Amino acid sequence: MRFPILSPEEAAEFVKNGDNVGFSGFTAAGTPKVVPVAIAKKAERLHSEGKPFKINVFTGASTSDLCDGELVRADAIDKRTPYQSHGDLRKGINTHKVHYFDLHLSELAQKIRYGFYGDLDVAIIEVADIKDDGSVILGTGVGNTPTFTNCAKKVIIELNEKLPKNLEGIHDIYVPLDPPVRSEIPIFKASDRIGSPWLKIDPEKIVGIVKTSKLDDIKPFTEPDEVTKHISANVCDFLISEIHKGIIPATFLPIQSGVGNVANAVLYGLADAKEIPAFEMYTEVIQDAVLDLMKKGRCKFGSTCSLTISEHMEEEFMNNLDFYKEKVCLRPAEISNNPEVVRRLGVITMNTALEADIFGNINSTHVTGTKMMNGIGGSGDFTRNAYISIFSCPSVTKGGKISNIVPMVSHVDHSEHSVDILITDQGIADLRGKDPIQRAEEIINNCASPDYKELLRDYLKIAGETGGQTPHSLEASLSFHEEFLSTGDMRNVDFSKF
Ligand code: COA
Repeated sequence: MRFPILSPEEAAEFVKNGDNVGFSGFTAAGTPKVVPVAIAKKAERLHSEGKPFKINVFTGASTSDLCDGELVRADAIDKRTPYQSHGDLRKGINTHKVHYFDLHLSELAQKIRYGFYGDLDVAIIEVADIKDDGSVILGTGVGNTPTFTNCAKKVIIELNEKLPKNLEGIHDIYVPLDPPVRSEIPIFKASDRIGSPWLKIDPEKIVGIVKTSKLDDIKPFTEPDEVTKHISANVCDFLISEIHKGIIPATFLPIQSGVGNVANAVLYGLADAKEIPAFEMYTEVIQDAVLDLMKKGRCKFGSTCSLTISEHMEEEFMNNLDFYKEKVCLRPAEISNNPEVVRRLGVITMNTALEADIFGNINSTHVTGTKMMNGIGGSGDFTRNAYISIFSCPSVTKGGKISNIVPMVSHVDHSEHSVDILITDQGIADLRGKDPIQRAEEIINNCASPDYKELLRDYLKIAGETGGQTPHSLEASLSFHEEFLSTGDMRNVDFSKF
């Protein structure tokens, strides 16, 4: 092989204080596994010598403990974008140790190419195979890797010997031209392939190869419980009724599904909803549930950016690669989440809210309006361009002390204009064609927990005194949140003082 073989420590020496570094992958899938750990160790060593060392971390989405976890614990991250879901990193962000800016996932690649954040110094990427001309087969998560390797001055490769070389053919690597010469992205069905199975990297930039042999180590999601099963049943009932009404074509439309426990439970529900025909997915993450749906013939094809599957499913996937390769296409994030394609294909989007307000605004990211949970991820890319956009969440959380339906969301990620349907374990609110007060009645009646219905009606009464198309009492609108912060239970709200 023409490229030098490096130890992780030797590779880490190519990364300097203040560098902009792009990491491959999307979730733990495809994230480098040993070089980030060596960079963290280098940071700790330099800090102990009184020397500064921090890098700016650009990724596809969240990563793994071996990347975000190790780097943040070593105090080695200055800026971070576009999405994360790591407990230690979350702490760093909420205490301003890490400067995190939350972005729609489809946008990072072009913003890097446009030069918004300066030059990209290093790309560190995981691959399954490499040729002497610098062409590589990526791992199970693509993220923004093609743009990172095109733009970076240096590329470090982790060659993962656990990844089978016959992953070749599963990827579809395509990078659009930039304005003013960008043309259409020619995907007309979820299964259309428009690029190349190999990613071509300028061999002059490749500083060396580090060999690894670790799989992604993704933990399985929590098994669906009574609440998430109810949400899932409500989603299926809604989709079936839309087919009966002729609003969703009988042949169905591609589905996008968000991340997390609720989304995983919804997907499991689709396995048994036989009135929904076998469907395709145009989505950013394929979780365990989707492989089950494929085995059962319920999911015909999945266009995605990553395979975020647990170890047991990863084994199943690798052992039956020929079966899955026909059913899965791994694309860069700016294509898997592309607004133009999502709108063209008519994707039915299903994302999870932290909280929704009675008028249909959604908070996906900030607990009590201030503390970052994970980030907006791809939920905005899909929601804003959906055929039908659905948000779901449990009606309450923390044993009922928090209502996920509130008078006014404490932070807005998706405005009322982008949300068609809200679903909780209690029921379905169809917000289409309704004015704000009608939406509020629909949401309170159908989605709020019985413990909070009267409180929300009380709020609407007070708010109504102010008039206006969207009535709010500016004084009382955040009283659910204030009550939680002061007494630990939103059920104690007393609107008689307003
Ligand atoms: N206030 C405070 N905490 C809340 C809350 C609220 N209104 N709603 C939920 N939570 C807490 C839960 O209690 C739970 O906490 P725990 O980890 O201490 O148990 C945590 O948030 C996660 O909630 P859970 O009900 O398990 O949902 P989830 O795993 O499905 O995740 C989101 C929900 C919103 C955090 C997650 O979907 C997300 O990050 N979304 C934004 C990005 C996105 O949509 N990406 C998909 C695009 S393709």
